[in-house]
Amino acid sequence: MNYTGKVKTNIEIAENIWKMDISTGKVFRSLPGQFINVLVNDSYEPFLRRPFSIFDAAKNSVTIVYKVLGQGTKALTEKAPGDKLDFIGPLGKSYVESYIPNHKSQIIIIGGGTGAASTYYLAKYLRSKKIKFTFIQGARCKPQMVAIPVFRKLGCIFATDDGSLGRKGFVSGLLEEVLASQIPNHKSQTKKSEIRNPKYEIVVFACGPKPMFRAIKAVTDKNDKVKVFASFEEYMGCGIGACLSCVVEMKNGEYKRVCKDGTIFDLDEVVL
Ligand SMILES: Cc1cc2nc3c(=O)[nH]c(=O)nc-3n(C[C@H](O)[C@H](O)[C@H](O)COP(=O)(O)OP(=O)(O)OC[C@H]3O[C@@H](n4cnc5c(N)ncnc54)[C@H](O)[C@@H]3O)c2cc1C
Ligand code: FES
Repeated sequence: MNYTGKVKTNIEIAENIWKMDISTGKVFRSLPGQFINVLVNDSYEPFLRRPFSIFDAAKNSVTIVYKVLGQGTKALTEKAPGDKLDFIGPLGKSYVESYIPNHKSQIIIIGGGTGAASTYYLAKYLRSKKIKFTFIQGARCKPQMVAIPVFRKLGCIFATDDGSLGRKGFVSGLLEEVLASQIPNHKSQTKKSEIRNPKYEIVVFACGPKPMFRAIKAVTDKNDKVKVFASFEEYMGCGIGACLSCVVEMKNGEYKRVCKDGTIFDLDEVVL
């Protein structure tokens, strides 16, 4: 659905990372993991809309958290309270459509870099359903970490490449520690092929860059009890399934559109 929203607030919350609250003007219904496609400028320069995960949402508002990278995100920083903002959404499938969490599920949420922007809403959603989860956020360094205080309130633990916040190293290292504490003998588990009827008990929801997915997979591949659903942030054109610019290759040889068939896929099915 197309919305003409109004910017409520637009502030820098970390190094080159901004948070924008938008009043949607009409009812906005979304689920965690979905995104909106924003027309950053009335002058159509840049021409293409820019996709951003829904950081948080309510009946009449949506929040995005964005890193300033190029022309589009720079233009967004110039928006002031009261300015109009045209966007399409909510788009894509939700984490909770990929796997329906229940009270028996052990859930681990991982956000890496600006991928963390798609995980906060999920953590809030699970908390509202009283479903327990472990929450991990990683970034290069503390100044690059998204919205630390609000993530902390949801019990988030952190990893930074330089050790300036939380565990030093990648989120995959923190994941390995968490799994070791949740699954006895995690490190010495038998290989997938040796297990006759694999059944996963721990579900990881992750959003971040592809190298992060590869590192996560290297950890979770050791154990068939763990399943990963990952939200991909490929370059997008139309955002609605028409242009094929966002496809990822699947292991069965198919190509799937991140914007329409995803953004969330079973990590075992995607060629990384
Ligand atoms: C589904 C989805 C959700 C996203 N959610 C968020 C979010 O919540 N917060 C956020 O900060 N960003 C998010 N992104 C990435 C964001 O859309 C891009 O950073 C933004 O479009 C860049 O626009 P720009 O005009 O500023 O930069 P451009 O001028 O288009 O590009 C500037 C630089 O950014 C790189 N870049 C552009 N798009 C991407 C991308 N998709 N992935 C990696 N690098 C890119 C380019 O290679 C270039 O180096 C998301 C992307 C997708 C597909
Ligand atoms: S962005 Fe056009 S098909 Fe996905």
